[in-house]
Amino acid sequence: MAYSNLNSEYSNGITTITINRPTKLNALNRETIQELHEAFDEANRDKNTKVIIITGSGEKAFVAGADISEFADFSVAEGGKLAAEGQRLLFDFVESLSTPVIAAVNGFALGGGLELAMACHFRVASSNAKMGLPEVSLGVIPGYGGTQRLPQLVGKGRAMEMIMTAGMIDADQALSYGLVNHVVPQEELMTLCQTIASKIMRNSSVAIGEAINAVNANYSDGVNGYDVEIKAFGKCFGTADFKEGTSAFLEKRKADFPGA
Ligand code: COA
Repeated sequence: MAYSNLNSEYSNGITTITINRPTKLNALNRETIQELHEAFDEANRDKNTKVIIITGSGEKAFVAGADISEFADFSVAEGGKLAAEGQRLLFDFVESLSTPVIAAVNGFALGGGLELAMACHFRVASSNAKMGLPEVSLGVIPGYGGTQRLPQLVGKGRAMEMIMTAGMIDADQALSYGLVNHVVPQEELMTLCQTIASKIMRNSSVAIGEAINAVNANYSDGVNGYDVEIKAFGKCFGTADFKEGTSAFLEKRKADFPGA
């Protein structure tokens, strides 16, 4: 499908989605959020896509936040709706996809940009990346899950400091906080993400989807993650991937997962 604010390209099991509003530092306006929803949905449904990588176009920004020009004159009701719709269409949606999503953070990831990176299953950053939740400097709070996912990833105290100061941390500090898994020079960022993706692709996509769901259960209100894990574990025994994975091991050969 053709999009106006992003590119989505498939190659070798990976769909790479690149947000393409470089003159606005890839800020997330309503149309971009809708298109991202469609692009993620399309990639997740595509049987050939084993991993999704999301990044920003240009060398300066992953995403510099929600598009401030769009909501500057919003009312209380409109503000609430903006957050609710965004979380449903993009942030919660990405987090719960069964296809692994890697954020390739190639520059500023601020506000909604960091929230998008945090909704992904994990993050890899280029050494020039800068991350923060500057919303309180605008008189608002993070509304796309930032107050929830940042403490999950870096701990409550660090999250409180980042949110209250509205400051930015650099890639090395993000690495030491556990907010990103790896930091590399910008020219190596996509290659590293592709290398990690190729390791993921060797494994059962069905089992990976179940694992994502079980890990996420730990962060869902009123859900017992251990119960979700037990059910998902049992379910795997009925899959063709499980038969292939265990047979291949016992026959001392490489598994060729059917993905079912
Ligand atoms: N929403 C809308 N437009 C944005 C934007 C955002 N979140 N972030 C950047 N832009 C636009 C700028 O308005 C500017 O547009 P213009 O050229 O039409 O004036 C363009 O992107 C380039 O940004 P600029 O501020 O000139 O770049 P810079 O290198 O001086 O600063 C940042 C980079 C990221 C520090 C700065 O753009 C910034 O603070 N952005 C807002 C971050 C933010 O508060 N995000 C949270 C939103 S809730």
